[in-house]
Amino acid sequence: MRQPEKHILVIFGASGDLTYRKLVPSVFDLFTQKLLPENFGILGLGRTELSDDQFREKMKEGIEKFAGTINTKQDMVEEFLSKLFYYAFNTKEEKEYPDFKKHLESLNNKLKTENNYIFYLATPPSMYPLVPKFLANNQLNDESNGFKRLIVEKPFGYDLESARSLNHDLQNQFREEQIYRIDHYLGKETVQNLLVTRFSNGIFEPLWNRNFIDHVEITSAEDIGVGDRGGYYEDSGALRDMVQNHLMLLASLVAMEPPALIKDESIRNEIVKVMQSLRPIPEEKVPEFVIRGQYIGSEIRGKKQKGYREEKGVNPKSRTETFVAMKFFIDNWRWAGVPFYIRTGKSLPTRVTEIVIHFRPTPHHLFHGDKDIMKQKNQLVIRIQPDEGILLKFGMKLPGAGFNVQDVNMDFHYSELNDTYLPSAYERLLLDCMLGDATLYSRADAVEAAWEFVDPILKAWKNQPCIKVHGYPAGTWGPDVSDQLIEGEQTWRYPCKNLVGDGEYCEL
Ligand code: BG6
Repeated sequence: MRQPEKHILVIFGASGDLTYRKLVPSVFDLFTQKLLPENFGILGLGRTELSDDQFREKMKEGIEKFAGTINTKQDMVEEFLSKLFYYAFNTKEEKEYPDFKKHLESLNNKLKTENNYIFYLATPPSMYPLVPKFLANNQLNDESNGFKRLIVEKPFGYDLESARSLNHDLQNQFREEQIYRIDHYLGKETVQNLLVTRFSNGIFEPLWNRNFIDHVEITSAEDIGVGDRGGYYEDSGALRDMVQNHLMLLASLVAMEPPALIKDESIRNEIVKVMQSLRPIPEEKVPEFVIRGQYIGSEIRGKKQKGYREEKGVNPKSRTETFVAMKFFIDNWRWAGVPFYIRTGKSLPTRVTEIVIHFRPTPHHLFHGDKDIMKQKNQLVIRIQPDEGILLKFGMKLPGAGFNVQDVNMDFHYSELNDTYLPSAYERLLLDCMLGDATLYSRADAVEAAWEFVDPILKAWKNQPCIKVHGYPAGTWGPDVSDQLIEGEQTWRYPCKNLVGDGEYCEL
């Protein structure tokens, strides 16, 4: 394993939740696996006044709660904490940047990190255009004396226009190769495994096209509501929060052509080609292709569940969608005519993300059996989380007289790989950025292409208030009408916590 060059990771928004829950615990995990360079430091920035020691104390708590390797590496916490520093300043004020720069340079001299910096924007999105500008005005984009990289969190833009303008602003200050737009889904082991499943197994490629695949279904469900993120979510909604980024990315990985190489621009080029082949959904056709819903209060096993409008920070008359189901097509040689279905929502029955490839049935039904089973097609389920694994469903002869067919499962679970540590998405992505590898980060053109696709949907919802926001009781699989999206006699798969189970009322 290559080790990154010496550097400082500078986190804007270091007193926030992301730093506490994800960033610092993930860097700790890199440290315990000896994947960090000897000369390394984290400099947290924020408006809250904190000493280095207070910052370390807070991060220690985060590490103890969230780091993946904490149970076995408790003894390394203190050594890691000594690499953490904090500097309080108002990052909105350009005049404060020269002092910040001096502070950074003195830390750089102390740690001997050769002016290599990664700037991580874990701030509210309104700061995304500002910070890079202020950094650039203070020559902190200048790579002549060491690398300068910029990681930008989601949401990247609010719609197509704002995403373009943000790209434009960032690219004015930093070269595209210095900009790392994070989509943590691409950092998930099981998402990367999708590429390995497709491109390292000879059996799938011949079947992976319109001749053998009937339709593709992608579900990303969460069993919790928006909790205390109501303020953010009100302006976002499920389409911006999950579909434009994570789910379009999953669809692209399912649909993309084999890349020439598993690195550099090859994968990113193929992802963009898929995004550019998405058949646009015109504003007037949106209700035909996209269903939006919002969870309403309910009772599950005697326990009252909040409706979205009762959540903190949410307008009691809000029309923000917490559920989206949609159908779309990818107009290219491989996928012409194959419907893709995507479904995501908060307060659904279980937390699950999975991709289901539904194969076409045999051309002629030779065997008789239960009518429902006869309708069943082979399915390949790629489970991203939880119970990560792969499941193939196919027909087998029911023992006994005659030729009756029964649907059976062939499954593999990651948990069967003993002693295999699954690194977190942030761990993988942070390491890649440290190594200067942007393969698993989103490129400007891909982000814009995804926005171009969802933009007419956002516009239709805004301009045509008659398009319904369907209520669904918290803890159910979203509005019933989303079933009507699926062509023919099929329905969505109703996944359970465990990969092999399914059924609308299965044990959750
Ligand atoms: C984030 C969204 O990007 O992804 C959240 O903002 C969502 O609303 C989360 O809960 C889901 O991520 P994961 O890794 O838990 O599937």
